[in-house]
Amino acid sequence: MDWLSVIVMLLVVGMIVQCVRLFLSDCDLELQWAEKFGYATGTLKDKVVWITGASSGIGESLAYRLAADGCSLVLSARREERLQQVKQNIIDRGYLKKENILVLPLDLLDLKSHSDAVETVLKYFKKIDILVNNAGRSQRSLIERCPVEVDRQVFEINTLSPISLTKAVLPHFMERIAGHVVFTSSIAGKIGSPGLGSYACSKHALQGWLDALRTEMYPYNINVTSVCPGPVFSEALVHAFTDKIDTSLGVTMDPREKRMSSERCATLMAVAMANRLDEVWISPHPELFYVYLFQFLPSTAKRIAKVLGQDRVDKIKSGSASLHKTK
Ligand SMILES: NC(=O)c1ccc[n+]([C@@H]2O[C@H](COP(=O)([O-])OP(=O)(O)OC[C@H]3O[C@@H](n4cnc5c(N)ncnc54)[C@H](OP(=O)(O)O)[C@@H]3O)[C@@H](O)[C@H]2O)c1
Repeated sequence: MDWLSVIVMLLVVGMIVQCVRLFLSDCDLELQWAEKFGYATGTLKDKVVWITGASSGIGESLAYRLAADGCSLVLSARREERLQQVKQNIIDRGYLKKENILVLPLDLLDLKSHSDAVETVLKYFKKIDILVNNAGRSQRSLIERCPVEVDRQVFEINTLSPISLTKAVLPHFMERIAGHVVFTSSIAGKIGSPGLGSYACSKHALQGWLDALRTEMYPYNINVTSVCPGPVFSEALVHAFTDKIDTSLGVTMDPREKRMSSERCATLMAVAMANRLDEVWISPHPELFYVYLFQFLPSTAKRIAKVLGQDRVDKIKSGSASLHKTK
């Protein structure tokens, strides 16, 4: 066998191995690699990390993960009693002392409060190393039934509020020539699917802003990580917007559904943070496979989605399928 044949064979075997790894995993190939061979999450020890949306779901699990790794934490959300409970859980597990956790209640929709909140954190910890913009709300309604007012509200919490909080923290990062901003985007920030139009719009917009931010902040040594999870167990469907203003979906996730645990999602987020990855996809299949398909064969993927998606849209319209079910 000549050298060329050997190289071609190795390439083919390598591609087959990567495909198998892709199908066995719950995250993209670069994140898989980082989890196995990259920096451990323990390298985040002593960082001051501000997590928004820390009162439940992914944000709460991330708080436990990072506390276990020795980070000091700022916990923000609206429900102060839930944040105090998260703080107490961290202390009870022996991860951190109480002075290493600042509970900072915040309604992120009040954009004017963001600079005061930054000052409060800096007064307490003297620095911020990582801001995790995790707070957000999902949405379930068909576009034809969804009032623009709902689109606006989804956009305000998922897009404008993290943009505003980031802008309030950036001067501190730029002065230090160091910093890291993490965003919980979504697979819906890569692919729009029926019933999630406004939500997909808000996360796609965020993704575009992040790509610009990443390049603009590179000279200041500021990292930007976009985390795109697929379905994860949390309170998301309890609080999701619907086609009626001021009416939340109020659905508790069915434990039999195929979703990732918030703990696993938080662990992979921490790996992405420790390795300063720019964008990561965290999801069970088939959603993870769809992202690859949409990335590499956009037209074919969109054609398949619109044809196969008709059945689901028809069922939602007729009321024989639920908007909140992944299937
Ligand atoms: N679960 C999924 O399948 C999934 C998939 C992809 C992406 N995500 C994203 O993951 C992030 C976390 O969501 P989750 O799934 O963990 O849902 P969750 O359990 O409902 O958590 C949402 C968090 O956001 C906070 N929040 C909502 N509105 C807020 C406001 N106005 N001001 C301050 N905090 C606010 C909530 O706290 P308070 O109610 O106490 O304010 C809560 O802590 C979101 O950005 C979501 O879009 C979730």
